[in-house]
Amino acid sequence: MNKSEKIILTGDRPTGRLHTGHLVGSLKNRLKLQEEGNYEKLLIMIADSQALTDNWENPEKIRENIIEVALDYLSIGLDPKKVIFFIQSQVPALTELTFYYANLVTVSRLERNPTVKNELKLKNFETNIPVGFLTYPISQAADITAFKANIIPVGEDQLPMIEQTREIVRTFNRIYGNVLVEPTAVLPENKSAFRLPGIDGNAKMSKSLGNGIYLADSKEEVKRKIMSMYTDPNHIKIEDKGNTKNNPVFTYLEVFSTEQDFEKFLPEYKNLEELKAHYERGGLGDVKIKKFLLAVLENILEPIRERRAYYESRIDEVIQILKEGSIMANQIANETLKEVKEAMKINYFEEKELTEQYKKKYQNK
Ligand code: TRP
Repeated sequence: MNKSEKIILTGDRPTGRLHTGHLVGSLKNRLKLQEEGNYEKLLIMIADSQALTDNWENPEKIRENIIEVALDYLSIGLDPKKVIFFIQSQVPALTELTFYYANLVTVSRLERNPTVKNELKLKNFETNIPVGFLTYPISQAADITAFKANIIPVGEDQLPMIEQTREIVRTFNRIYGNVLVEPTAVLPENKSAFRLPGIDGNAKMSKSLGNGIYLADSKEEVKRKIMSMYTDPNHIKIEDKGNTKNNPVFTYLEVFSTEQDFEKFLPEYKNLEELKAHYERGGLGDVKIKKFLLAVLENILEPIRERRAYYESRIDEVIQILKEGSIMANQIANETLKEVKEAMKINYFEEKELTEQYKKKYQNK
């Protein structure tokens, strides 16, 4: 695919601030795409309508986090000159498309969607499944197809959504003609990325577990979190042999540390392999590795924090970025909606189609 054909779209539900797990899982990948510049459009959507499908009783939370997530995006260096940032609910064509696509999907297919299935179980909806929640994959298909996006950088959990979108595209195109584009999911390259554990050793960083390190955390908070981080519970005395597997400090170092970090902050060791070997044979204390991890992370988080502070003091600029992005998103999505309605023959008042049709029918009587 050449540059002029790549339309990249991705997004997040604004249900909380973004953390270092997001940074390695998806945000870094987006930065890379932005820096490569090998695309026609790069769209990043704040999926507030989708977030409401399981937070409908909590609109204030979603409203608040729209700005938090936008600040997180800008703070890592995503650039509004290169990215169209927009808010899902502000693009009405997405809702309209969702309704038409709903005809092409069965309830049982939605219930079989592995991501939905898993969430239904977690949320204990049992037989009281909200229609909005069950149908969010259809709305996600609208998000993607409205922009004719062909590249969707997402985490593994989103693969069933992309698959379902592809099915909707094929069904639509078969019935109404070739209008929609089948998207391809692109997973992050670094496999350990979507497995950044919580500071408590839990496999996942999550807001409800309170075990994440957030992009917006202060230096003091980051320090407190790292110093309290779970390590090898059998590594009690410095002389004890230590385990570097299932030890989040080492998992983080694997993901974040570079040889330059060793040169700069821990020159006694050349690289992570040497550090690990020492820990495993004993004689290396947790405090020392935690201090190193803190230095490594602060090196990454400090510039993010500075950029965040810059935008926090210019909130009106942030709102303006979202507003302008949403205007652009509307233009693109409305164009697709127009084609969709034409293909579905519900464009009665456009291009005199209906007039011509009926004139012909009745004038020859
Ligand atoms: N479902 C995604 C998530 O929970 C968010 C999302 C909504 C999305 N629409 C999208 C991602 C379209 C990619 C493309 O993170």
